[in-house]
Amino acid sequence: IESLNEQLNNFGISEPLALFPDSNPTANPVDVYRCYISHVLAPITGVDIGLVYPALEWTQNLEKGDLILAVPRLRIPGKNPAELAREWAEKFPKNPYVRPPTATGTFLRFYFKKDVLSKLVLTSILSRKSAYGPIDTGKGKRVVVEFSSPNIAKPFHAGHLRSTIIGGFLSNLYESCGWDVVRMNYLGDWGKQFGILGVGYKRFGSEEKLLEDPVNHLFEVYVAINKIVEQEKEAEKAKAAEKGQKQISNGPSDQEAHEFFFKMENGSEECIAMWKRFRELSIEKYKATYSRLNISYDDYSGESQVSKESMERAGKMMREMGISSESDGAIVVDFKPHAKKLGKAVVQKKDGTTLYLTRDIGAAMERYEKYKFDKMIYVVACQQDLHLQQLFMILKLLKLDWADRLSHVNFGMVLGMSSRRGTVVFLDDILADARDKMHEVMRKNEEKYKQVEDPEMVADVIGRTAVMIQDMSGKRINNYTFDMARMTSFEGDTGPYLQYAHSRLSSIQRKAGIPTEELLKADFSLLTEDHATNLVRCLAQYPDVLQNTLKTLEPTTVVTYLFKMTHLLSSSYDVLRVLGEEPKLSAARMALYESARQVLNNGMRLLGLTPVDRM
Ligand code: ARG
Repeated sequence: IESLNEQLNNFGISEPLALFPDSNPTANPVDVYRCYISHVLAPITGVDIGLVYPALEWTQNLEKGDLILAVPRLRIPGKNPAELAREWAEKFPKNPYVRPPTATGTFLRFYFKKDVLSKLVLTSILSRKSAYGPIDTGKGKRVVVEFSSPNIAKPFHAGHLRSTIIGGFLSNLYESCGWDVVRMNYLGDWGKQFGILGVGYKRFGSEEKLLEDPVNHLFEVYVAINKIVEQEKEAEKAKAAEKGQKQISNGPSDQEAHEFFFKMENGSEECIAMWKRFRELSIEKYKATYSRLNISYDDYSGESQVSKESMERAGKMMREMGISSESDGAIVVDFKPHAKKLGKAVVQKKDGTTLYLTRDIGAAMERYEKYKFDKMIYVVACQQDLHLQQLFMILKLLKLDWADRLSHVNFGMVLGMSSRRGTVVFLDDILADARDKMHEVMRKNEEKYKQVEDPEMVADVIGRTAVMIQDMSGKRINNYTFDMARMTSFEGDTGPYLQYAHSRLSSIQRKAGIPTEELLKADFSLLTEDHATNLVRCLAQYPDVLQNTLKTLEPTTVVTYLFKMTHLLSSSYDVLRVLGEEPKLSAARMALYESARQVLNNGMRLLGLTPVDRM
């Protein structure tokens, strides 16, 4: 804070922090400018300083200025905004930091003085290093992020992959901004499918295969028994149709599965023991896969962990508050009086067994008891929009005062996804395919390939990057087509391209060999070219990009930013050479490149990627 106040004293501002609760020039150097401009503009415009500050925004490109103020945003009644812009531009005093603003239409444009900006931004990055970017706005707050949540026994599909990638990123983002993050995996480890699996395992299960590869073997068993259940169901249907009667049964295997699950819910030791093993072996396997994606969980509570008591308590509350009613022996919530489009939902079946929705209600209540969260995020595919809306509505109707702290971060589908095993997708297979494809691509460049120390490992890291970047490139809600060839290409905005940009910067750093302390002392006024200014400006925007991402909760906000930066870099290498230049100029440019490498590294890590130094 002291050094910050010193900086701001230079601007003639004595108490900046008291005025802008959101501003943090120590972490976000550009805030020095925002604070300064707001202080000067407030008396000129007669508008409260707290309104001027957030109205100062970055522009898309340099010609339009650095920060821009849209005069209409200040809502001054009865005055022509274009005239105001001109008037204010004239009144803005001369100063050593910002050039005189210009008025264009209803906009007021501010241009930073280049050398001041470079010094402020680059020294901030080089000294804060991996801490540059996030701003501690979440101190003392806790967020539960529920993501991935695969169903044991059923395949880990593309939806789980997306949830894993997006949820991992959001957890990192909140954590970096000072939040206490609880990473939660709500395993689909309860429900009638376990009855089916139990019955299936008795018929087709193999101990040996189970120990060797639990996730795949359980899936095999599940597919085999499901086929029989389906066949029997069809046969029953046909039989009933023949006799002209209503179908009363789904066949013997389905009945058996039903009984198995009923026994599980009523605590049968034999059934529970079997289920427990399936669960434990699967979790172990999942953990290994998650760690490949740099993810670890704090809580593996699954659907099975939701206690009977909490569900019964919820059931009682719903009944007493008139939210639920009986219908045909089942308990139903009719949402129509509150929100028509939510329809009706069953919360308890005729035989008393619970449902997905029932378990979610109990789980939410238990999570609040346990974590007293300030926010809880469900990272779940948009196919479950209705389910989550119903869940949130029930919690709201129950008048739980934390019900408005929940949010659903949804996403679209992955189309055309398949792996070596066909269209059923296992995360491990996808990553292995990406690794092999990447390895193949790398081999094409024989010279370079020979220099890579551990090409298998590098191919693995870049393959993962390829899969993850493809997933995070578009808006969450958009569907995308899984395209192995495109995502592993070095051309276009792909994962390999991003890794390449990082390794190129690392290579320049290795060759120049200037220590960071030297870079901090560089003469930043030598960075005069537009290419340099554009890069500095881009690096300066990173903290704002992260603050914005906390609002959008879109990984693409960060991904797009990183690609913008790598494009600026590609076009700079020829203009801003480091090697073979005069030492002072070399040092200044190296400070710029090293700052870029640091920001790229920080951004990639936030996305859950492992940046490589050579490839
Ligand atoms: N296991 C579920 C599925 O695969 C996803 C769980 C979503 N989270 C929740 N709280 N309902 O469809």
